[in-house]
Amino acid sequence: MARLVAPRSREALERRTAGGFERRFGRSAEFVVSAPGRANLIGEHTDYNNGLVLPFAIQRRTAIAAAPRADRTVRVASALAEGDVTIDLDRPIHRSLPRWGDYVRGVLAEWIAAVGPLQRGFDAWIDSDVPVGAGLSSSAALEVATANLLESSEGTAIAPEAKAGLCCRAEHRYAGVPCGIMDQMASVLSDGTPLLIDCRDLGWRPVAIPAGQVQIVVVDSCLSHDLGQGEFARRVAECREAARLLDVASLREASREAVLGLSSRLRARALHVLDENARVLAAVNAIQTNDWLLLGAILDAGHASLRDLYEVSRPEMDALVASLRLAGALGARMTGGGFGGCAVALFPAQIDVGEALVAAAI
Ligand code: GLA
Repeated sequence: MARLVAPRSREALERRTAGGFERRFGRSAEFVVSAPGRANLIGEHTDYNNGLVLPFAIQRRTAIAAAPRADRTVRVASALAEGDVTIDLDRPIHRSLPRWGDYVRGVLAEWIAAVGPLQRGFDAWIDSDVPVGAGLSSSAALEVATANLLESSEGTAIAPEAKAGLCCRAEHRYAGVPCGIMDQMASVLSDGTPLLIDCRDLGWRPVAIPAGQVQIVVVDSCLSHDLGQGEFARRVAECREAARLLDVASLREASREAVLGLSSRLRARALHVLDENARVLAAVNAIQTNDWLLLGAILDAGHASLRDLYEVSRPEMDALVASLRLAGALGARMTGGGFGGCAVALFPAQIDVGEALVAAAI
């Protein structure tokens, strides 16, 4: 059964997180920070190919409440998972149990490498309303919230692109996921407005969707995307292999003609990437000219390419996307890494989406 990912109140989450800290640690929090999850309008599996993406922050966040300690210990607990994470700031930080702590350990380690040693330890409590395993980047939200906490507690602000970069390295080195930088950039920089990001040089700009004409809706298929972890790494490796065979730094630099000469599987992967970069630019154009039928068609074409060329969809996700079209969407596609997770759909503003989903038995 799929369900709408409805916006939640940031204030309510941050208040709840501060309350959780007080109950867990028996004193008041000094800092409360948060960072959002994201969905992606178009530009899937292009970020780690130095390509273009158009993600936006969702109104679901991960919050951390914290207060300094007198010693050099960091202790972190979460409302969502068992087990405390304890880090000694005077020792090298390694991957360890519980596994969710690796996101926090990774950001601390990458911050120390990039910015310098932390001045003091702290206690922290994490809470979140970003669904986990739903392809909405609960991991990037936790990483960016951790970096936001370090900015507050250390009194040191860092550039947004540098913050996204260190969170992304934390994910590579500590969570072991060879992701691109889209999720962290969206979590750091988007206020809900889609951002056109060029992952080659991290140039970005907002591409606002005018209010009152269309609505973008995120629907959770409730199929966990965890199964796809191995497949995600395989796609990254396939793209690297294609770039190596074509003697280019990344698929961003590959020509269509050269790609057509690859063996069938690598050709399909690379064609998706080339076409998807073009679709991002076409989508920006469609938004800027208020051409919603065209934007819908671009989303549909993006989904077909993920299904047929990149092979990261699932029959249940294809069925959800088809049902969203029947419910009145102008276009719909899976969003995120694939193998489950969420769909994004473009609906005319006047449709009551909750009712439409019920009527279409979604
Ligand atoms: C995951 C990764 C991102 C990106 C998407 C696919 O969400 O974390 O970096 O590669 O998949 O677009």
